[in-house]
Amino acid sequence: MHGFIEELQQYHHEKAGHLHALQDYSVRLVEVADTRKDELTELFDPFRGVSETAHHRNEELILLHLRTTDAPIHRKVNEISADHAAFERILSQLMRMIVDESVSHGELSDALQNFVTVYHDHASSEENIFFPIADEYMTERTWRAVRDDWMSGPFERASVR
Ligand SMILES: [Fe+2]
Ligand SMILES: [Fe+2]
Repeated sequence: MHGFIEELQQYHHEKAGHLHALQDYSVRLVEVADTRKDELTELFDPFRGVSETAHHRNEELILLHLRTTDAPIHRKVNEISADHAAFERILSQLMRMIVDESVSHGELSDALQNFVTVYHDHASSEENIFFPIADEYMTERTWRAVRDDWMSGPFERASVR
């Protein structure tokens, strides 16, 4: 796999741990009615920071350049940008639910599990469809164009060579 894709995969790997923590919290919410809302808000920090925005932006840059090749664009790959926009809406709604006293533990737990499922499905599609197709169809020239865009953006990562 190209180095850029490996970096995206590594990011997904880190996120898997954070999704596990959210899943555990959703179970605790219904089983022991345990609501430490500060802790819950913190569990979402990894999904709301600059690195998350950079990750999405860099995936969308690769997709932009993948469209210039002969690669077949799978429906799930076409939906990547819409998914990213949807995550922002879902997260805003979750942040409101966390502090809303009228939201029951069951409702909050369902919302957490829905986020975990949607995020996991999105990441799986990228890993199983998007990344392999990009790796197969993109040439060194296309990757150089990605690199130029990636490095010129406001969210460039220090580890990108
Ligand atoms: Fe993504
Ligand atoms: Fe991703």
